[in-house]
Amino acid sequence: MISCVNLYRMTRVKKGIKDMKKISVLGLGYIGLPTACMLANNGFEVLGVDVNKEIIDKLNCGKLHIEEPELEKIFLDAFKNKKIKISLKLEESDVFIIAVPTPLNHKKKADLSFVVSAADEISGKIKKGNVVILESTSPPGTTRNIVGKIITNSTGFLAGKDYYLAFCPERVLPGKIVYELENNDRIVGGVDKKSAEITQDIYKTFVKGKIFLTDLETSEFVKLAENTYRDVNIAFANELSLICSDYGIDVRQVIEYANMHPRVNILNPGPGVGGHCIAVDPWFILENTKRKDTLIEKSRNINDNMPFIISQRVAEIVSKYKKPKVTIFGFSYKENVGDTRESPAIVINNELIKRKIKVSIYDPLAINTKYSLSGLEDSVNGSDIILLFTGHSIFKEIDLVLVYDLMRSRNIFDTRNFFDRTTVEKLGFNYYNI
Ligand SMILES: NC(=O)c1ccc[n+]([C@@H]2O[C@H](COP(=O)([O-])OP(=O)(O)OC[C@H]3O[C@@H](n4cnc5c(N)ncnc54)[C@H](O)[C@@H]3O)[C@@H](O)[C@H]2O)c1
Repeated sequence: MISCVNLYRMTRVKKGIKDMKKISVLGLGYIGLPTACMLANNGFEVLGVDVNKEIIDKLNCGKLHIEEPELEKIFLDAFKNKKIKISLKLEESDVFIIAVPTPLNHKKKADLSFVVSAADEISGKIKKGNVVILESTSPPGTTRNIVGKIITNSTGFLAGKDYYLAFCPERVLPGKIVYELENNDRIVGGVDKKSAEITQDIYKTFVKGKIFLTDLETSEFVKLAENTYRDVNIAFANELSLICSDYGIDVRQVIEYANMHPRVNILNPGPGVGGHCIAVDPWFILENTKRKDTLIEKSRNINDNMPFIISQRVAEIVSKYKKPKVTIFGFSYKENVGDTRESPAIVINNELIKRKIKVSIYDPLAINTKYSLSGLEDSVNGSDIILLFTGHSIFKEIDLVLVYDLMRSRNIFDTRNFFDRTTVEKLGFNYYNI
């Protein structure tokens, strides 16, 4: 005999985009906040939730806690028009979007504790017919086996039957997040077709790019494959740079000419790969496979080794000076952004300090760093080498004549091919690059 409860569970709840009025976004960082604002400015009642009280208080005063072009405008549009509410507490909603961090732990595995706590929160508020969307980059299987299972264990609701469950990854570029949120194509994976379709309808309210639908695990894998492709390509460029140096050949010229081939696109070598995407996602791909000796792991290791190679070279250059001082230009992991999380510049800084070399950091864009930063003049005063780590556009305006006068020895190590070699050499600097 089928019990009443089971009969109720077996009834598929059918809802459409018109029933989706209120959306809660869990996690108000680089991804969650712009997404919440977009949805709020495109017809939804939005609740932005974060566990960090400082962030909530700041946003509730109409102030942003992160820097991103155009974000302030879209936030204030939504906030002043009361289309978005900011809170520490989750409420019942029609749609729940999870945009919490998924960092790497010390064993190179995904730390899914934030996803777990977000799914727990949602379990306490979810009703039949609601939509749950995971945006956080995650190892394949996370949406179904972590988010879906937590909700089922707590409520008895089945994904695809009682509520809609989807994965909708982000491909935005920091520094262009607002523009790319609207204009990039997206992949949506659903636990079933209807879950993917309803998620597509929600995102279509602000996405101008195309939205392609697939299953959960494929969409999770696609996101990881994209960043892994870039990581492997950079590792190839880095390996070429090391081999080129054995031959005394300029790797950048090799890459420039090789890329003239219509089917070759080699990325640039550099001082390491940072940030919370490209350096992290390849490990997520490897998380649930027993394969050994993969190209993906080798590439990760090549890129992780670059900051050590750079520190070693810089240490060799300054070894002839008494009590040498190194000035690092740019501390964020990427040009024109302030985010210093997972920046290989941190490794370089620590390696140089370990070798008893004084380090001074100049990065007017850097935020949220525990490392002490200096102004331009203080940072170069008495310095023996400038190590350009991040090629922020504003560095183009630096008065190199003033820098030359303030330095003790005149060396520039340009890890990004940022300065014009002839110009800096004409000024009297010794120029080094990768
Ligand atoms: N930043 C990017 O450019 C980018 C691009 C693509 C994908 N992603 C992915 O998007 C996800 C979010 O990244 P981000 O850069 O926005 O992170 P972030 O650290 O900027 O923001 C995440 C926010 O989530 C909050 N949070 C943690 N647990 C929570 C919970 N249980 N409930 C509510 N809030 C909670 C944190 O306090 C934080 O403010 C990650 O998986 C990341 O890999 C990021």
